[in-house]
Amino acid sequence: MSPTHLEIARPDDWHLHLRDGAALGSVVADTARQFARAIVMPNLKPPVTTVAQAEDYRRRILACLPADTGFQPLMTLYLTEATTPDEIARAKAGGSVHAVKYYPAGATTNSQAGVRDLANVYPVLEAMERHGLPLLMHGEVTDPAVDIFDREHAFIERHLVPLRERYPGLRMVLEHITTQAAVEFVRAAPAHVGATITAHHLLLNRNAIFEGGIRPHHYCLPVLKRETHRLALVQAATGGDPHFFLGTDSAPHARDAKETACGCAGIYTAHAAIELYAEAFEQAGKLDRLEAFASFHGADFYGLPRNGDRIVLERKPWTVPDALPFADGTCIPLRAGQTIAWALA
Ligand code: DOR
Ligand code: ZN
Repeated sequence: MSPTHLEIARPDDWHLHLRDGAALGSVVADTARQFARAIVMPNLKPPVTTVAQAEDYRRRILACLPADTGFQPLMTLYLTEATTPDEIARAKAGGSVHAVKYYPAGATTNSQAGVRDLANVYPVLEAMERHGLPLLMHGEVTDPAVDIFDREHAFIERHLVPLRERYPGLRMVLEHITTQAAVEFVRAAPAHVGATITAHHLLLNRNAIFEGGIRPHHYCLPVLKRETHRLALVQAATGGDPHFFLGTDSAPHARDAKETACGCAGIYTAHAAIELYAEAFEQAGKLDRLEAFASFHGADFYGLPRNGDRIVLERKPWTVPDALPFADGTCIPLRAGQTIAWALA
């Protein structure tokens, strides 16, 4: 018999895009309703590259929150080739910045200011290793000669393996992993190397991008992979291994920015994140493993206390709206117009 209720410690989202301005106001309550904390990505236009900018952004997020929430945004810096070791020291001293995000230049949304050559940021990585500030990695090569489905695997071989050798003490998170190779790399690494896994990569394989026609709302980066990889991710997430923790990579875009000749990458899941994860864990017969993945492993990795309060999920299918308000337009959430098996009580 499958359970009708599931009570777990309140989860955290260790990888989230909240955007800014009116868009921020449209989405932040979805996350705050479920999660106690979230690691907030810095890929705004312009990117969040300094502690002062991160603190301003944090204040703008707090100003948009509903009155009754205790939600805490955990800020990150966007790593550029102009980032200085001094900025890392300021980040560590300040307390509001919890990590630094590495985007290979050109890899994804607002990554133009990212890193062209890792060798150009070695002094910064050395400072991060010294200060214990985690490096969050968008782990894909941008080499156009590499097939888009192989870009994560190539990143591991070309960049991650050498980086681990050069900075063995550097805390790192391979974000939104999508492949068996990533699972194996992280599983074999020491405890200060972790990985986030999204709900959409647990629930969908690459067929979802082409189901009956092209599906822009299933396009994200790293792109969905074949079924064998999805199964490896499910195994990793539900296996109880503390290397792996919840990070939605919920990435809202306006409908017209996705339904166009060159659509943006990103899937919006914040409206139903923990419910979607519950579905994935239930399908694997591992609902009892959801709490550790969603509420314990990430907090432990970041050296933060586990949340004291609890949430209840009910098995109560509900229909996701066709569209959600997003700034002056709409955003199409994952499962739009379809049902989700679990609901947050
Ligand atoms: O699908 C994605 N969307 N992947 C990313 O790496 C960035 C994100 C975004 O900001 O839209
Ligand atoms: Zn992301």
